[in-house]
Amino acid sequence: MNILALGLLLVSLLTAASSTASPTQWRALNATVGGRLRSSTPFALPCFALYNNQSVPMDLQACSAIQENYTSPNFRLEHFGANMNVEYETCMSTHSGCLLDTTDPRSPLATEGVSCDQGEIPPYYIDIENVSDIQAAFAFSQRTKVPLSIKNTGHDYMGRSRRRDSLGLWTHHLQTMSYHTNFVPALCAGSHRAITVGAGVTFEQVYEFADDNDAMFVGGYAQTIGVSGGWMMGGGHSVLSPSLGLGVDRILEIKIVTPDGRLRTANACQNTDLFWALRGGGGGTFGVVIESTHLVEQRIPIQVINMTFTPTATNLREYFEILVSNSVNWGELGWGGHVNKQPAGIIYVNPRLSLQNATASMAQLAAFALANNGTAVIETLPSWLVFFQRFIVQVQAPVGNSMVIGSRLIPKAHFQTPAGRAALVAHLLAQAAARGMPYIPVGTPIAFKYTPGTTSVTPAWRDAVWHLSSGAVWPYNSSVADIRAVLESVHDYVGDLRALAPDSGAYMNEGDVYESDHEFTYWGPNYPRLLAVKNKYDPLGLLDCWKCVGWKGPAQFPCYPSL
Ligand SMILES: Cc1cc2nc3c(=O)[nH]c(=O)nc-3n(C[C@H](O)[C@H](O)[C@H](O)COP(=O)(O)OP(=O)(O)OC[C@H]3O[C@@H](n4cnc5c(N)ncnc54)[C@H](O)[C@@H]3O)c2cc1C
Ligand SMILES: *[C@@H]1O[C@H](CO)[C@@H](O)[C@H](O)[C@H]1NC(C)=O
Ligand SMILES: *[C@@H]1O[C@H](CO)[C@@H](O)[C@H](O)[C@H]1NC(C)=O
Ligand SMILES: *[C@@H]1O[C@H](CO)[C@@H](O)[C@H](O)[C@H]1NC(C)=O
Ligand SMILES: *[C@@H]1O[C@H](CO)[C@@H](O)[C@H](O)[C@H]1NC(C)=O
Ligand SMILES: *[C@@H]1O[C@H](CO)[C@@H](O)[C@H](O)[C@H]1NC(C)=O
Ligand SMILES: *[C@@H]1O[C@H](CO)[C@@H](O)[C@H](O)[C@H]1NC(C)=O
Ligand SMILES: *[C@@H]1O[C@H](CO)[C@@H](O)[C@H](O)[C@H]1NC(C)=O
Ligand SMILES: *[C@@H]1O[C@H](CO)[C@@H](O)[C@H](O)[C@H]1NC(C)=O
Repeated sequence: MNILALGLLLVSLLTAASSTASPTQWRALNATVGGRLRSSTPFALPCFALYNNQSVPMDLQACSAIQENYTSPNFRLEHFGANMNVEYETCMSTHSGCLLDTTDPRSPLATEGVSCDQGEIPPYYIDIENVSDIQAAFAFSQRTKVPLSIKNTGHDYMGRSRRRDSLGLWTHHLQTMSYHTNFVPALCAGSHRAITVGAGVTFEQVYEFADDNDAMFVGGYAQTIGVSGGWMMGGGHSVLSPSLGLGVDRILEIKIVTPDGRLRTANACQNTDLFWALRGGGGGTFGVVIESTHLVEQRIPIQVINMTFTPTATNLREYFEILVSNSVNWGELGWGGHVNKQPAGIIYVNPRLSLQNATASMAQLAAFALANNGTAVIETLPSWLVFFQRFIVQVQAPVGNSMVIGSRLIPKAHFQTPAGRAALVAHLLAQAAARGMPYIPVGTPIAFKYTPGTTSVTPAWRDAVWHLSSGAVWPYNSSVADIRAVLESVHDYVGDLRALAPDSGAYMNEGDVYESDHEFTYWGPNYPRLLAVKNKYDPLGLLDCWKCVGWKGPAQFPCYPSL
């Protein structure tokens, strides 16, 4: 062990003093997990000469790599101390953390004479390798009362993969993948074409692996989101979801260690209550997932439209009217994608139509683009993987910022009456004026044949057309008051959306951090049953996260400022 590591270990032992485990207990845990207990430090620590107010040596080479790759999702993925949305590396309510200036990561103003603080980063984590590691963690938490947190990739927009002074469980290194032409869920009958992934596998990995097997995996719009974590359990969407369903609709089996320490297989034939709860009830709530198995499609060509135009004071209304009046039909034809801010326009895909029919269904929008200094290219790409490489990698949401979002599902009925359409167009015009051009994920399962009762996401997903959203970013050095003002503005924006669609709900992973009615908004009538499943499998409440099923409330999470 070098001097730096020794110093950090001592410092982190001091930091850990606020939890109730003794150094002896930590050492015993480390022995149980084969030496895979690690002390963890903030991502950007190598750039600082002070750590928790104590002098530490800087590591200029490591710092340079961090500065260079500060906004790279693939780089952040490899660091336990990094999040994609960086405010959750800090303790927002006390303004303590360890951030660089995202707009200029080499800026010395962020680091010189500044202390890098531990923020919300747990002092220790287990680099999970097997089931016994997780069993040891649950037993340790029960014995010592040290809370747990589970991190896969750190994408969560509400910071639910972090908890100050917790023992972190990092599932990133669970990296197996297998392809099955005939997967039979244990104790079930009937087989499916499927892929099984270890909990650390990302979309980029599974898209490549599926393609190698002449298959197509239905997943999200980012390289580094995990397949089996928050995306899968929270009801994650794909631009392929309009015809092929949400992530939860395609899960065949999950292997999970529940808080009582048992490894369970959940599918349609055993542990069925747990299986239902895991299909929408959210990550970090019912146990630690080891691996999951998902239905895959045949690899097929995909139609794509890339449409852009130049927004002006006079053409926005027409643009929004075209979007609003066509969206139900487009969704039913299988189109999904995003309405983009910059450049203004859309990128949509369709796995169902012929090129000729795709072109016909987009004719009105393409004509609008050409009349407004824009472009509309409709083409056939050979596969989803080619679409991923050509489009998603270029336009995926940015990381390395302090950022939150808020959203609401907008039901089909709003698109089907003149008054509903007028209200939506008015909302979009107001949003464009106040917050800039809207960014709208279009990935609701509107044309998917759903078997009612099989998943626990809010039923509002099933007949929604859009998932209307907006976000906000703030500078690394904002004061707590400024951060609170940004959080409040997103909360107010979501209040406007609620007024627009009061009986609907929202996607739990992309909702308002301060959602006032999270139980109904994320799960609708499913909440009471989800809570019963939570209490059955986690009777001691060893897992708890922000606005999750069974959440114990904000007092347990002092780093979220109160509004
Ligand atoms: C840039 C970006 C792009 C996005 N694009 C999309 C998109 O296209 N579609 C979409 O639906 N969503 C999208 N999201 C939202 C994303 O799906 C959620 O943030 C999701 O929670 C990420 O899950 P994760 O496991 O990768 O992340 P983490 O932050 O590591 O974990 C999220 C939650 O799951 C829990 N968890 C993680 N691993 C496990 C495990 N093995 N067992 C049990 N619980 C676990 C954590 O405790 C936490 O509560 C995007 C987010 C970002 C930041
Ligand atoms: C997990 O790893 C530990 C330590 O390396 C080992 O002792 C244990 O047998 C492993 N457990 C399983 C289930 O593989
Ligand atoms: C756990 O044990 C391993 C192997 O002995 C060691 O390298 C590591 O530093 C220990 N972890 C902590 C937090 O002390
Ligand atoms: C560092 O010092 C500041 C100012 O004295 C104090 O507010 C903060 O709590 C200290 N942080 C730690 C981790 O000791
Ligand atoms: C990170 O930055 C360094 C330069 O400092 C570069 O050589 C390296 O390729 C980058 N790594 C990743 C994973 O992007
Ligand atoms: C294309 O449209 C025609 C006429 O509406 C329809 O009959 C045909 O099934 C469609 N084919 C595809 C692949 O979309
Ligand atoms: C037309 O579009 C191009 C590229 O998007 C842009 O640079 C240019 O300013 C636009 N011209 C007008 C008149 O809006
Ligand atoms: C989409 O179209 C715009 C405008 O022509 C172009 O700048 C952009 O590169 C295109 N995107 C891709 C991924 O081809
Ligand atoms: C934050 O940093 C920027 C850039 O370094 C600087 O211009 C600004 O004054 C700082 N703001 C605060 C509140 O310190």
